[in-house]
Amino acid sequence: MNILIINGPNLNLLGKREPEIYGSETFNDFFSKLKIKFTNVELAYFQSNIEGELIDKLHEVGFTYDGIILNAAAYTHTSVGIGDAVKSINTPVIELHISNIHAREDFRHKSFIAPAAKGVIFGFGLKGYELAIQSFL
Ligand code: DQA
Repeated sequence: MNILIINGPNLNLLGKREPEIYGSETFNDFFSKLKIKFTNVELAYFQSNIEGELIDKLHEVGFTYDGIILNAAAYTHTSVGIGDAVKSINTPVIELHISNIHAREDFRHKSFIAPAAKGVIFGFGLKGYELAIQSFL
């Protein structure tokens, strides 16, 4: 099974960025542990701060991969283009957020991705990525 994790803007700063919300672990460290935990899955990871690059990646893998875990970060709440890309591909997408977006500012309650997602996981910290992989398995 092939699963791609896509992280959007500012998530390259995990570990340094607002650790009280997002924790103090870097995504690279976490991803190394994930790969050891799920040796039965071909796990890949892509991060970009650029909306169009996230859309290009969804198009690239969205007809061949078995699952995509998408944390589009701030673009979740603004991007019709990413929402449309998720609707346009065949691979099921799980929308993921590290924090509980519904316990935060109102603008984070809106998602352009959720209507097209297989499911949404939020509020469980980095553990959410594990839950998403388990749901694909
Ligand atoms: C986030 C939540 C978003 O509202 C925010 O813009 C992010 C990260 C999360 O993982 O909790 O950058 O997607």
